Amino acid sequence: MNYILYDKNFITIEDLKIDMEDRGYQFGDGIYEVIGVYNGKTFKMIEHLNRLERSAKELQIDFPHDFRFLKESLEKLQSLNGLQNGMIYLQITRGAASRVHHFPGSDVPPVLIAYTREMNDNSFIQKKGVECITTEDLRWLRCDIKSLNLLGNVLAKQKAVENNSFEAILCRNEIVTEGSATNVFIVKNGVLYTHPANNYILNGITRSTVIEQCRKMNYKVEEKPFKTQDLLDADEAFLTGTLIDVVPVRKINDYNIGSGVPGSITIGIQQIFNTLIN
Ligand code: PDD
Repeated sequence: MNYILYDKNFITIEDLKIDMEDRGYQFGDGIYEVIGVYNGKTFKMIEHLNRLERSAKELQIDFPHDFRFLKESLEKLQSLNGLQNGMIYLQITRGAASRVHHFPGSDVPPVLIAYTREMNDNSFIQKKGVECITTEDLRWLRCDIKSLNLLGNVLAKQKAVENNSFEAILCRNEIVTEGSATNVFIVKNGVLYTHPANNYILNGITRSTVIEQCRKMNYKVEEKPFKTQDLLDADEAFLTGTLIDVVPVRKINDYNIGSGVPGSITIGIQQIFNTLIN
């Protein structure tokens, strides 16, 4: 049986009732996290919950539970569902209230839901790399908040799929920000570049882990903006994100990146990342 965490209770899908006037449903007024589970263990749970807490603060949503209680509840959910490899999806909305745009009264409690899902097998794309497209970044200016409002991301990803590509790499005024659901790195002359963690991107947990590991390996990592043309001219490029981990990019807009196969630095980073999750 698959359980859902609903506020503080573990319930089944049959018992789940979503209010028509939940603000997540009507306004996308909420936040979320996707936490990876590998070999029965959650990966970087504290980092994900810290980011969730930050998103809540930025949007003035009350963080509904004590941090420790939430962590324990998510671990219990994972073990109740017997999840070995997959994800915990967690969202908190501002709650259900009669529809007005402004915040409802403080008597309206936030609504927390979490469920688990088995992981797709990503080994093929991790080994062979993926094709991507570039597209204009149409999102708002607070992409650092992991909000439920994902229309800009959804439209970009749809465009990628329609072009037989894995990911849409977003560019704002000719600067590469991130993917529709991933962070983007390039390698040029042995140096790694990725967009700085500011309001234009989500500061990915996988991104931070990769940067930390690269610095430990004495790779030079520059968190600074680079142009769309730099992306196309890169020696190597890769995407990072929960569950896909580190995925090489071999083609963008039909141009080969480097020699069109996963590069040696990317492969080295994948190997290090695999030792962390296994
Ligand atoms: N997406 N950038 C965006 C816009 C994202 O949506 C995500 C994650 C990332 C990578 O973040 P992390 O390494 O912390 O997963 C970057 C999740 C997986 C999703 O929406 O499904």
